[in-house]
Amino acid sequence: MPQLQIFLDIATEAALAGGAVLMSFWGKLENVQEKGRSGDLVTEADKAAEAAILAVMQRHFPDHGILAEESGSVGHQDSPYRWAIDPLDGTTNYAHQYPVFAVSIGLLIEGVPAIGVVYDPYHQDLYRAAQGLGATCNRLPIHVSSVTELGRSLLVTGFAYDRRDTPDNNYAEFCRLTHLTQGVRRGGSAAMDLAQVACGRVDGYWERGLSPWDITAGIVLVQEAGGKVTNYAGQATDVYSGRLLASNGYLHSALSNVLSHTSPLADGAVDLS
Ligand code: IPD
Ligand code: CA
Ligand code: CA
Repeated sequence: MPQLQIFLDIATEAALAGGAVLMSFWGKLENVQEKGRSGDLVTEADKAAEAAILAVMQRHFPDHGILAEESGSVGHQDSPYRWAIDPLDGTTNYAHQYPVFAVSIGLLIEGVPAIGVVYDPYHQDLYRAAQGLGATCNRLPIHVSSVTELGRSLLVTGFAYDRRDTPDNNYAEFCRLTHLTQGVRRGGSAAMDLAQVACGRVDGYWERGLSPWDITAGIVLVQEAGGKVTNYAGQATDVYSGRLLASNGYLHSALSNVLSHTSPLADGAVDLS
């Protein structure tokens, strides 16, 4: 069995374990805290799911590096293999019992996204991909959409927790692309947003202020499903830059053109007081 397939299967075992923990806390949260920035929540479910995931990963990969949202960097950071793990992507949704959230486990090999597992435990949907091995949902192949015109597209985006602290808050881009397309959704889980692009349910996704654990897995899903992932300018990017444009490929240059020519809303354009 190819090494990537073995890695993918172990990441799947970890994602299923994390997902089971999330469902065990669903609707029963007792401890919801802000992590520092207003609106950036952490719950006992985030922490317990991460512990369950790390137990599987560290048992199988004692020599690998791990970057996990709640634990930070653990393991061997000089290893060429680095796992980027979000035990609960969509914590705000989860805390409100809005059922859009996922476990996201991605592998970077020498910094390049190579494996992605996104598990939505509420709907029991398992999205998986590995470089060169294709992308699946519940073990059936998935593919990006074939929409070629912005005016016929449906997009998804998100707004980072620093949105009140910076004019670069994605509000202008959201307005502009809402105007030019059939709609822009705000899913609340970057990993699920990327999985929806990979499945062809939406045609593109962009966001800023992202962390490696939000997007590593989803990037592999989109690429292996036939889509394209770059920075806003349409150039190669890495998971540490925080800014991502993902699409079905056909819409990429049109989206990149809009995103790279949109400036933050002028002061006073919208009353944000
Ligand atoms: C957040 C979600 C959200 C995105 C934020 C992320 P979290 O992750 O992915 O969709 O807009 O930028 O931080 O905090 O729920 O793990
Ligand atoms: Ca996240
Ligand atoms: Ca999270």
